[in-house]
Amino acid sequence: MYLREFINADGFHFYELNNDPEVIKYTGNKAFQSLDEANNFIENYSDYSQNGFGRWAVCLKSTGEFLGWCGLKQEKEVIDLGFRFYKKHWNKGFATEAAKACINYGFLKLKLPEIIGRAYAKNTASIRVLKKCNLKFEKRFEYDKKPAVLYTIKNVTN
Ligand SMILES: CC(C)(COP(=O)(O)OP(=O)(O)OC[C@H]1O[C@@H](n2cnc3c(N)ncnc32)[C@H](O)[C@@H]1OP(=O)(O)O)[C@@H](O)C(=O)NCCC(=O)NCCS
Repeated sequence: MYLREFINADGFHFYELNNDPEVIKYTGNKAFQSLDEANNFIENYSDYSQNGFGRWAVCLKSTGEFLGWCGLKQEKEVIDLGFRFYKKHWNKGFATEAAKACINYGFLKLKLPEIIGRAYAKNTASIRVLKKCNLKFEKRFEYDKKPAVLYTIKNVTN
């Protein structure tokens, strides 16, 4: 796989991903109202210019196929690791491989001190990915009135 910045054509994939109720079940997101709304989201995505990093498209090297997205998001003073893949590509190790690359990039290139991962307590696949990436359980908390967990990993290369 390779990771790249979002391009306008990814609006279609954002629309399709969030249009699958199983994909957004534990994300707190809603489906986009229309393809136009998803296209607008991508066109106005400002994380790369604002923070120098963001979520990235994850694509298959052999074909360029868009598998999903993974990456970092500055949220106030914390850097959040997130991922979302088409259902047909679940359980092939893609999220773990992509998330590990994002953590390495965040620590080695961006010199971030810490990366966090949050998931609803019921999102066992997501929590499994965080664990496989060596994030450690920090605490339980409530998000949108539902039980959630916080995992963290500290940069020991700084
Ligand atoms: C979470 C998500 C990104 C994981 O992607 P993925 O590419 O399937 O992840 P991986 O294949 O790298 O690893 C998944 C792990 O979870 C495990 N898993 C999957 N479903 C599971 C379940 N219902 N219960 C327990 N473990 C589960 C897999 O067995 C695998 O662990 P293993 O390697 O030890 O066998 C994917 O399920 C997804 O896109 N979900 C919808 C969006 C979402 O919830 N994002 C996270 C929001 S916090």
